Amino acid sequence: STPLRLGIAGLGTVGIGVVKIIQAHADLLAARAGRPVQITAICARDRQRNRDADLSGYDWVDRATDLATREDVDVVVELIGGDEGIAKDTMELALDNGKDVVTANKALLAIHGQALAERAEAAGRVIRFEAAVAGGIPVIKTMTESLAGNRIRRVMGVMNGTCNYILTRMQSAGLPYETVFEEARQLGYLEADPTLDVGGIDASHKLAILSSIAFGTRVAFDGVEIEGIERVSIDDINRAADMGYRIKLLGVAQMTARGLEQRMSPCLVPADSPLGQLEGGTNMVVIEGDAVGQIVLRGAGAGEGPTASAVLSDIIEIARGVRMPVFGQPAAGLASPQPARTAVP
Ligand code: HSE
Repeated sequence: STPLRLGIAGLGTVGIGVVKIIQAHADLLAARAGRPVQITAICARDRQRNRDADLSGYDWVDRATDLATREDVDVVVELIGGDEGIAKDTMELALDNGKDVVTANKALLAIHGQALAERAEAAGRVIRFEAAVAGGIPVIKTMTESLAGNRIRRVMGVMNGTCNYILTRMQSAGLPYETVFEEARQLGYLEADPTLDVGGIDASHKLAILSSIAFGTRVAFDGVEIEGIERVSIDDINRAADMGYRIKLLGVAQMTARGLEQRMSPCLVPADSPLGQLEGGTNMVVIEGDAVGQIVLRGAGAGEGPTASAVLSDIIEIARGVRMPVFGQPAAGLASPQPARTAVP
């Protein structure tokens, strides 16, 4: 049968994770996809870097956009990152040239997801982005497939592992914010711009993507009311603990009579609840559906294996020929989706 041919843009942690899974599980993937999954071409800023993976069988191209125009590439896997620039150019060019796109780029999708989805639809192509939200946790497919029979009432969760590490460690070690922030930096947890993490922006990107899927609304990052964790003090944490609570950077999205409400802020959660017990760098997403009730998903929100695992789920879905758009699926019960705007309480 015809192989699905990939062009991989970006060979950082996630890109190399994807290459390794494809090499290690070629037979398994082919069996699950119903056809072989092959890498044809790759691209990275630094070719010389030792990546601890055999890349000799693939064509190197100079620019990521070159992947988008190659005849022998069916799917461009964009793992460069950034909410503008080369990642965006590559995705747009790929769609315009008849390629499907798989990406882990939460920032780009939160800001330009709507336009990209419309562009994909016009071109008859699909964009898949399971890895963009909560890393290895299969939250998008859970909502679009497993919970397809539900009207989603609420989606909430802890979607930034770094903030969860900082808050958990402040509590367990009794250390001030500044000290733990510095630890997180040294451990390499922080994004290049740490404000994305501690300012709640990265988590809000993910929440905006999730609420669009949950409620069939336009992706609206600018509709998220955001408060980060920079002002959470050790006193706040200790006082919360005395009352039996933990402080978590919690994202909540729900449809109200006034429209979609999206909030990201430090919240008190009971210490003995699943959210309260969530450890260090992990993520948790809680989904409430009218038929199913509450579902709790927990797992690694970042890292090579977990994020690559999510990327592969998208690649396999495309290989199987699933062409349903993910953004813009009508939310059950909403005659016409409400504009996504934060309701003023
Ligand atoms: N900075 C993010 C986190 C990485 O800490 O969760 C994964 O998106």
